[in-house]
Amino acid sequence: MPPVLIALYGLHILATLFWLLSSFILARSMGAGSQKMFRWQMLAATLAVFSGGGLWSLFHRGLFGPPEMVLAAGALCAIVAAGVQGALVGGPIRRMKSGALSQEQAFAKMTKGQRLGAGLLAVALLTMVSAPHAGHPF
Ligand code: HEM
Repeated sequence: MPPVLIALYGLHILATLFWLLSSFILARSMGAGSQKMFRWQMLAATLAVFSGGGLWSLFHRGLFGPPEMVLAAGALCAIVAAGVQGALVGGPIRRMKSGALSQEQAFAKMTKGQRLGAGLLAVALLTMVSAPHAGHPF
């Protein structure tokens, strides 16, 4: 495999696993730490989407068989996870700073956002790992 492909795969796996694990940990901590981690999570989400798009255009361009359907479902979960975290983690952080939300309300929303994000990203991980085997009888 050419080094540039190894780097793209590595970047994709590092970014997506950081995003997934940080979401799980922040969900377990009831949202505590989300203020510091949110920007890194969104950076990881951006890298995940661009590196995933790069891998798609290199390996799956013009195809839409069972592996691509499974991958597309996973990519959709990841994009929804980014939106959910933007709305339920990023939004409450801003509104808590401006005084529009109490700490208690904000942390309740952040916990929900991290939980939903983690669940969607776990489904995305399952699809990514199983996609290469989709459509094979064994
Ligand atoms: C928009 C978001 C995403 C896109 C477009 C995307 C796309 C891709 C593509 C095209 C591949 C290469 C599949 C192949 O080898 O043919 C891949 C691999 C992989 N992706 Fe993603 N991905 C996204 C998000 C995620 C997320 C959120 C996770 C985990 C939480 C993830 C984990 C992985 C893993 C572990 C692999 C390697 C699978 C393997 O080779 O067994 N991806 N992804």
